Amino acid sequence: MNAYRRFRYSHAMADWVDQLRGGFVVFDGPDGSGKSTQFRRFMEHVESSGVPVCQVREPGGTPIGERIRDVLLDPEHDGMDLRCEMLLYMASRAQLVAHRIAPAQDAGELVLADRFISSTLAYQGAAGGIPVADILRVGQIALGKYWPDLVVVFDVDEQTAAARLSPLLDRMEQKGADYHRLVRQGFLDQAQSDPQRYLVIDARGDADEVFDELCDAIARRFAESGDHS
Ligand code: TMP
Repeated sequence: MNAYRRFRYSHAMADWVDQLRGGFVVFDGPDGSGKSTQFRRFMEHVESSGVPVCQVREPGGTPIGERIRDVLLDPEHDGMDLRCEMLLYMASRAQLVAHRIAPAQDAGELVLADRFISSTLAYQGAAGGIPVADILRVGQIALGKYWPDLVVVFDVDEQTAAARLSPLLDRMEQKGADYHRLVRQGFLDQAQSDPQRYLVIDARGDADEVFDELCDAIARRFAESGDHS
């Protein structure tokens, strides 16, 4: 990012970051999309602007959730039934909502989540084959009233995504190209059917380019809607 861009953001950010107060924002996308890098950069900007923020990741984010994460991602668990898998992601989420997200939202904090139910809809739904209605029914139990206001999807083609993954693949990353193609399409379909809640970012560029696009897109979204709902 050049000096002019940095200067422009430092001022423009103050406006739209402030509009994130009390909201619930999810960063999501296929493995290798670079979402976690963007998540960290975004967190730093939000924190430096003085907006109270609670940062969580899925699966995990609580001591119980982190143990569920280990079970879910262990390559030795290749016999895991799809319904077991979906319910374990939801179990981790229920704990996260009860112990981290609900208290933060009730205290008026911004919640910034690295993955959420949009991942279950893409991975266990679009790619795995569990019907959307079933996932949403279980989601209602896990989430209660705590649904995100904004879901940012980092979209990336398979070749770029594969090149970004470390060679030590976890159980989900090992599922193969066809599965991950469906995951990507699952995210894009969600965004298409709920364009007010979702924002798709082209994540093929380098980290600086993607961060620029992310900030511009969120600022534009607020300019259009006037708030984060
Ligand atoms: P991470 O690599 O972003 O930490 O996510 C862990 C893996 O779990 C990733 O491959 C996506 C997958 N996942 C699901 O399949 N369903 C879900 O509901 C969530 C939250 C993640």
